[in-house]
Amino acid sequence: NWNMGDFIEQQIEAIRAEVGDKQVLLGLSGGVDSSVVAALLNKAIGSQLTAIFVDHGLLRKNEADQVMDSLGRGLGVKIIKVNAAERFLGDLKGVTDPEQKRKIIGRDFIEVFNAEARKLHGIEYLAQGTLYTDVVESGTDTAQTIKSHHNVGGLPKDLQFKLIEPLNKLFKDEARELGERLGIPHALVWRQPFPGPGLGIRVLGEVTPAKLEIVRDSDAILREEIKNHGLDQDIWQYFTVLPGIRSVGVMGDGRTYDYTIAIRAITSIDGMTADFARIDWEVLQEISSRIVNEVAHVNRVVYDITSKPPATVEWE
Ligand code: XMP
Repeated sequence: NWNMGDFIEQQIEAIRAEVGDKQVLLGLSGGVDSSVVAALLNKAIGSQLTAIFVDHGLLRKNEADQVMDSLGRGLGVKIIKVNAAERFLGDLKGVTDPEQKRKIIGRDFIEVFNAEARKLHGIEYLAQGTLYTDVVESGTDTAQTIKSHHNVGGLPKDLQFKLIEPLNKLFKDEARELGERLGIPHALVWRQPFPGPGLGIRVLGEVTPAKLEIVRDSDAILREEIKNHGLDQDIWQYFTVLPGIRSVGVMGDGRTYDYTIAIRAITSIDGMTADFARIDWEVLQEISSRIVNEVAHVNRVVYDITSKPPATVEWE
């Protein structure tokens, strides 16, 4: 007997009662959960909400613009966008170890966010898109021991806010339904999961602007083809990875020595276990030839056919 309309009304009342005339801050990641919180708070308290959107330069093609368009211009959320790509790429320079990369990205994220938050005055609350599953999972930190996640940042002493977590009784699907009810575009709300460290963990080894471009462009082609073939609801997550190896190929009558792109596409319920998606050969063939033809410095495409376990979803 759970009713979304009632839930929205109750939440709005509860948020207004709690916040009063105080200011609320929100970290917008571009992901579904924080976007839904932004829309909900915007509806409840409007201009008392300020969102900080850190663009770390590791987002997918057009992703930052999409967020600004739909939440900023579309719903009227007050968003401060910080372009921090240079800092992240600078700090990642020369770093090849996956865990170290994750830690650098996580640390930079928190530092950039905090620096921006310090410029604001009179903020009393911090809103977070914590879901019910996040609450449950943080009790058992097996996932953390395999890969360090950085979704919940530690706040320094001078930035102590009271927390508002309006989604912490909801499952992912409910949060998505809520998002649609609040006017977030369907495509944004039903997006596949995307990790906090972004494309930084899909360029294996050292992250460079040139490699990011290859993974970003090939990923955009993959997403377009999956959508065109109507597979985006069947496949839980799909993306490309740049392993960084080069191999010999032939184009025209010339020899090439260029990069390999790997396609990762999985079916899953929650990301904890996964199976590789049985995509038709014809679809894979189309994706492969488009990537090789349209993305410079790629001459080979391979498909990842491992499940989780023993592999993980992401390659780093
Ligand atoms: P793995 O690679 O651990 O991924 O099998 C399981 C799911 O989690 C996502 N993932 C992350 N999500 N921050 C996130 O918010 C992270 O640091 C992170 N690392 C992996 C991954 O995309 C998959 O959906």
